[in-house]
Amino acid sequence: MKLTNIAAPLSTTKAQTLVLFATQEGKAVGCDAKNTGINKGLELIHKAHADGRLKAGAKEAVFFRSCDADGFSHVLVVGLGAKEKINEEVLRVGAAVAVKALTKEKVTTAAFCVQSIRRLTKNAVESGRAIAEGVLLGKYKYSELKTKKKDENEPANDYELAEIFLALDDKSASKLFGSGVDIGTILSEATNFARDLGNAPGNYLTPTILADRAQTAAKGLPIKFQALGKKEIEGLKMGCLLGVNAGSEQEPKFIIMEYFGGKKSDDPIIFVGKGLTFDSGGISIKPSAAMEEMKFDMCGGAAVIGAILAVARLKIKVNMVVLVPSTENMPSGAAVKPGDVLVAMNGKTVEVNNTDAEGRLILADALSYACAKYKPAAIVDAATLTGACVVALGNVYAGFFCKDPKFLKKIQSASQLSGERIWQLPLVDEYVEDMKGTYADLSNIGSAKGGGSSQGAAFLSQFVNEGITWAHFDIAGSAWHTGNRYAYNSDKGASGSAVRMFAQLAIDFNE
Ligand code: BES
Ligand code: ZN
Ligand code: ZN
Repeated sequence: MKLTNIAAPLSTTKAQTLVLFATQEGKAVGCDAKNTGINKGLELIHKAHADGRLKAGAKEAVFFRSCDADGFSHVLVVGLGAKEKINEEVLRVGAAVAVKALTKEKVTTAAFCVQSIRRLTKNAVESGRAIAEGVLLGKYKYSELKTKKKDENEPANDYELAEIFLALDDKSASKLFGSGVDIGTILSEATNFARDLGNAPGNYLTPTILADRAQTAAKGLPIKFQALGKKEIEGLKMGCLLGVNAGSEQEPKFIIMEYFGGKKSDDPIIFVGKGLTFDSGGISIKPSAAMEEMKFDMCGGAAVIGAILAVARLKIKVNMVVLVPSTENMPSGAAVKPGDVLVAMNGKTVEVNNTDAEGRLILADALSYACAKYKPAAIVDAATLTGACVVALGNVYAGFFCKDPKFLKKIQSASQLSGERIWQLPLVDEYVEDMKGTYADLSNIGSAKGGGSSQGAAFLSQFVNEGITWAHFDIAGSAWHTGNRYAYNSDKGASGSAVRMFAQLAIDFNE
């Protein structure tokens, strides 16, 4: 599907369907008759609101088929709720609701009236970005593994949504709005790439395939790509990553992506992502119910890969490094056993008291690597780390930990802009105390009851050198099956959580 931003009257698009946004007061937004030549469309809204067919609440879409309005065959009205509550997120949801309704109604071309929508948010750039994200994220479907069956009654592709026009009849506003559309497009494509990786089942996304797909995606971009194999990982003495990998038939990979778009003298911001391509739990095996969801256990890795692709495409002046330790966690005669002790790259010894707490083990080596090989300006990690985070926050918020007040501000502002909700959780010495080992320096599970997400973060903190700014994101709840909350995500499947927020964090990093 093409998304086209044009500085011209709506009618010149010759699109089949006109898309109008309306508030719950029954008023069209982003569209005034004087500037757009839209009359009958506005009348439709007025009448439908008056007779109660259209409430124009958030997430509502009403389709008027064959109404022949203002040069369009059909009109779609999308509700945005209360006018005073309209912000970037409301537009993102509205655009996604629109694209889903257009697809359902088998519309082929549509024009969104966005004439004055730019005045509803901070600026036209942010409006353009939110609308583009809503459209492109909302349109996403994972169908790589479906065989294409031709429906006898429906010639394939004839009713595909082929093009959406964003028409804004004011050259300078359209330019600003259009630059937002371009940014939103890049961010959405990176998010959809991360979703593709997440949705791929374990047998279609081994650590080797993950590395290959990341490398292919980075081709043509100024990103230096490396994927270390087992020999090199052994050479680096990453005992925890190797320990988790011991039960798997698949070779582990340690993915390194470097984008140096900033000044030579700028230290890099390092993003680390958990790349567990399937988490069976290992010898401490998981119950079978919903175990298939553990193919999503690499979504932290997908998030940071997506983020660096977007940052490189946007040519941001920042130095950024992505590290993804990747392996399966499987039971076998060779697998790591409860009680086994592993030695991390930074020399600390770890008792594996539950082989299912493997994410923190592979991240321990990646964080050690980040501290040993670079001079990080900051380290950010993302992981589907704990079921406890899902219990605490559901699929609404990602949990995060950060002790640096300045960095915290940047994180919160990036989250605000991207619309990805995050909730700060506590990390204090008590949790670190819980992670002390009996026979080794550390245990990979806590000795005290409860606080599982904070304990996980406390364990990770032991692999980040003193004085380095660090933030940990637990995306266990937000990484998949979030479409029931956010119209631009799929009902089932990976959400691409944290790609847009991390890209924003990198964009803002040197400001
Ligand atoms: N990948 C899981 C965490 C997870 C569970 C994410 C459910 C999303 C949904 C992780 O590797 C894990 O199994 N963590 C354990 C840690 C525990 C043994 C300390 C958990 O949360 O149960
Ligand atoms: Zn696990
Ligand atoms: Zn896991």
